[in-house]
Amino acid sequence: MNTYIGIDLGTSAAKLALVNTAGKVLATVTQKYDVSYPAPGRCEQNPADWLRAVERGVPLLLRGFDPADVAGIGTGGQMHGLVALDGNGEVIRPCILWNDGRTEAQTEWLNTAVGRQKLTEYTANIAFAGFTAPKLLWLKQHEPENFAKIRKIMLPKDYITYCLTGKFATDYSDASGTLLLDVKNRNWSPDMCRLTGIDPQILPDLYQSFDPVGRLREDYCKRWGIKAVAVCAGAADNPPAAVGTGAVTNGACNISLGTSGTVFIAQNQFSANAQNALHSFCHANGKFHLMGCILSAASCNSWWMNVLNSQNFYGEQRGLDGLLGNNPLLFAPYLSGERSPHNDVNVRGAFIGLSHTTTRQQMTLAVLEGVAFALRDCIEAARACGLEITRSTICGGGAKSGLWRKIIANVCNISVEVPAVEENTAYGAALLAMVASGAYPGVESACAAVIATSDKIEPDGALVQKYERAYRKFKMLYPALKMLN
Ligand code: XUL
Repeated sequence: MNTYIGIDLGTSAAKLALVNTAGKVLATVTQKYDVSYPAPGRCEQNPADWLRAVERGVPLLLRGFDPADVAGIGTGGQMHGLVALDGNGEVIRPCILWNDGRTEAQTEWLNTAVGRQKLTEYTANIAFAGFTAPKLLWLKQHEPENFAKIRKIMLPKDYITYCLTGKFATDYSDASGTLLLDVKNRNWSPDMCRLTGIDPQILPDLYQSFDPVGRLREDYCKRWGIKAVAVCAGAADNPPAAVGTGAVTNGACNISLGTSGTVFIAQNQFSANAQNALHSFCHANGKFHLMGCILSAASCNSWWMNVLNSQNFYGEQRGLDGLLGNNPLLFAPYLSGERSPHNDVNVRGAFIGLSHTTTRQQMTLAVLEGVAFALRDCIEAARACGLEITRSTICGGGAKSGLWRKIIANVCNISVEVPAVEENTAYGAALLAMVASGAYPGVESACAAVIATSDKIEPDGALVQKYERAYRKFKMLYPALKMLN
């Protein structure tokens, strides 16, 4: 049976999955890489590290399988990162990542001088510090010598596609997060290029996520034993994660608990929401989605485990079930500032309610709960737009914790469904490759054929009420913390 490789270029690691046409995951491989924080609030990665992770990962993934069975490759990856190439196709400087906050001034200029209304008219979105266009403006101002060298820009997963096929391509879902795409009409916005002084020639060609963009280069075919198969355009990370959990029908919601946390709502029709509280982006199935994004989700827990010097994520969570709804502590998860709904690069996190009797357990629980409350902020933004959210699938590293899933179900008062497959972004990317190669006629039919659920958590009325009271307190944290900036 044919097999397909899905590559998820995450923030902490590249995760690869080998999936057969029936949707069975045959193998997975994770290759970690570092994030560099060159200054507070700044966050970069070297594209060469991503490529190395893929080059190491593919042979490991194919161990024990016939590489000649591979019939397609699909990619997904962290959004918004600025990868800039010179005339020789060489990377000019490290990629500035999605959670980097250095573009405060450029973001402010876009939202006020250009104005939210115009930005929404041209792109369906307002500017957020992590988006790509403000990063280009920053580069122009602070590193003019690097800006002058740029001949092509692309998003992180597109760099892998470029290395594998030689093509400068991106897909509509990832292009949506640049603030240079006219999301509604699916073309680069001439108005945005004019306003920002960005030469449209440097932008990659646009494709649907399930379009083949090129064939695997000969040197990689030889090296991996794979035929010259099609590499599809792929998608940003949240859209293939939604594909990998089956969130492709109108109104379907998927929550991702990765380094970032997202609430993703599939939409058949385009809509730009009035307050721009949610991003309005293209989906990987050829349609649209609305999304709220919190900058620190599972990364809050990793940070806290580091502080505790603990490797035992699940051990630290033992016994916490009994404390649910009764934690005297609150945690604000703004370790990298916050995107949705606050759009504030300067706000920072906090524990509130510490006393002489505070325990390590209460602090660990507060971290998990604080992330759930921030996700609830995104769900409330969606509810305020008239969207009804009563259930969601969940994915990402943090979703492996049954306790965290239960907290989210009760804080958000939704039923939470756990997909049978864990590596959802890589899985979704492999499904896109299947559609690109004709194994399925479309993304929806691929999902209908292969997606299954392994567990479902229903909210519990009494706990929902307790969390409702705690959420009201949580909402008071941001205005207070903002004043301390
Ligand atoms: C979405 C976003 C993050 C990154 C990293 O807008 O910035 O989800 O894609 O995961």
